[in-house]
Amino acid sequence: MRTLLALSLFCVATSGRAANTDLAAAAEMAKANGCYSCHAAAEKIVGPAFSSVAEKYANDKDAAATLAQSIQMGSKGKWGRAAMPAHPSLSAQDLKLLAGWVLSTKP
Ligand code: HEC
Repeated sequence: MRTLLALSLFCVATSGRAANTDLAAAAEMAKANGCYSCHAAAEKIVGPAFSSVAEKYANDKDAAATLAQSIQMGSKGKWGRAAMPAHPSLSAQDLKLLAGWVLSTKP
């Protein structure tokens, strides 16, 4: 899994930032970090649907930074009573990629 992740990150780094490669890498990263145990693209599980997050922040130009911080530090009280734990092991680059990916989720 780690090798796969490293490989897909390598692809992102070398692909001239082709958008779909980025999104595929982000989806892999989300899988590897357990995001899907609480989230899904289109329905609420423990956390909000990623499409709801994208909708809520659609007109917020600071959204990527806000979400990157929520993912890194954890979040509570914005969506309901459940809290999201912190993800301290993700790098700034990973956080940016994940935040952009969540924001690109279509309903
Ligand atoms: C243990 C369950 C859990 C896991 C694992 C989890 N989340 Fe969450 N997530 C939540 C909950 C609950 C909320 C709502 C928090 C709140 O109300 O402030 C949330 C909120 C969010 C938000 C919206 C934050 C905001 O500021 O509005 C994003 C984006 C997000 N999660 C992304 C992720 C990503 C990416 C991962 C994987 C790295 C992840 N989550 C892993 C439970 C989880």
